[in-house]
Amino acid sequence: MNPFHPLDVILRKRDGHPLSDDQIQGFVRAVVDRTPDRPLITDAQIAAFLMAVFWRGLDTRELATLTSAMRSSGDVFDAASLNTFTVDKHSTGGVGDKTSLLIAPILAAAGLENPGPDGVPGICVPMISGRSLGHTGGTLDKLETIPGFNTQLNLDELAATLKRCGAALIGQTPRIVPADRTLYALRDHTGTVESPFLITASIMSKKLAESLKALVLDVKVGSGAFMPTYEASRQLADLLVKTGVISGTRTVALLTRMDEPLGRFSGNWVEVWECVDILRGIRHPMSHDLIELSNIMAGWMLHLAGRASTAEEGARLSDRILSSGKAYQAWLGIAAAQGGDVRVFDDPAARHKPAARRVLMAESSGYLASMNCKQVGWAVQRLGAGRARPGDPVSAHAGIESHAKLGQPVEQGQPLFTLFSEDASLLDEPEQMLRETLQISSTMPRIQPLIRETIPSA
Ligand code: URA
Repeated sequence: MNPFHPLDVILRKRDGHPLSDDQIQGFVRAVVDRTPDRPLITDAQIAAFLMAVFWRGLDTRELATLTSAMRSSGDVFDAASLNTFTVDKHSTGGVGDKTSLLIAPILAAAGLENPGPDGVPGICVPMISGRSLGHTGGTLDKLETIPGFNTQLNLDELAATLKRCGAALIGQTPRIVPADRTLYALRDHTGTVESPFLITASIMSKKLAESLKALVLDVKVGSGAFMPTYEASRQLADLLVKTGVISGTRTVALLTRMDEPLGRFSGNWVEVWECVDILRGIRHPMSHDLIELSNIMAGWMLHLAGRASTAEEGARLSDRILSSGKAYQAWLGIAAAQGGDVRVFDDPAARHKPAARRVLMAESSGYLASMNCKQVGWAVQRLGAGRARPGDPVSAHAGIESHAKLGQPVEQGQPLFTLFSEDASLLDEPEQMLRETLQISSTMPRIQPLIRETIPSA
């Protein structure tokens, strides 16, 4: 193999030339193999490379090679011995987006009903999730409000839980995709987070480290989305799907509406409570969009796993699994296997104990017309549910309850949101942020469909 010269790689990309597979693999190896004694590449050189990619982009081969090199930079979950169909979902992040807590048990229930010859569920969901950051929530923070629930399983424990329960929901270990840890931290400091190529490599390297046969992506569009425009979200969806397919994973992306919080609650324990209600057959009207999106995503996963001839049939099967209580039984199994005290699910409302709450009323009558959903997400964060910096603690009980959805008629004085916090002094700013952004109009607004586009569409 030729010696690796970081500057050659930077100059080639800076000048708009494609990089060879060797150059990309050498770059990623240098990022993870460097030590103070062996400075194979400096932070300045990594930053320069990131900026060159930001401006010049990557072609499909370069992106697939970067993703695969990042995936292989640490431990990879080896699902081969389980002899099952591994499938997962990923969302680019939203407000009140708790679909993972419904989809994992729905798929687990489908897998438990159809075990393979050696007794392993026929479908397994090795779900590696993240924490809340910025205006979006994180699955791990929600799960960790369940007493005893351990999200820090190692890969052997992940395999054991999948064998028994068909799904496990865990956090990234320091050994999974270590290259992303270094690259992401430098992207954050160099204004290169928003590159769709770097985002794709970051997301897909972590998902593909789960050894997936299929992946369904929820790429948000709208005022609460990570990407600023529909076109940017679409480009990202396209890159994610292409990268998944090249790696041999059946991959579908849904572009979905994120113009308002998904479901009834946004926060941490309150989101677990909402999902437990749904799993137990209680369908609050404010949870309608959450249930619909979860069934559509799970429907695609069931279809890709061969359990339904179309995604639509899969969505109907998903809803039947949910209504039958089988998903709830699967959820109890997963939570117990991960150390969770499942008695808290008997009465989840009783566990919600915010020290302070405030109701925000409609200031006029009309239709709830619009809100900046990112601002709503920041209000949830300021109530204590999210974190300002990585590593900050989050409150279990902070959050908001939505009492109306976009397009709905509202009367002056009707509650629109209830705010919860563990500290009464944290209520004023979020209340003001919500007041500023909520628009009520006298005419019926045009509301986008929940699913804007599916890629690939067939
Ligand atoms: N999520 C990730 O995991 N990586 C990114 O770069 C952006 C969102």
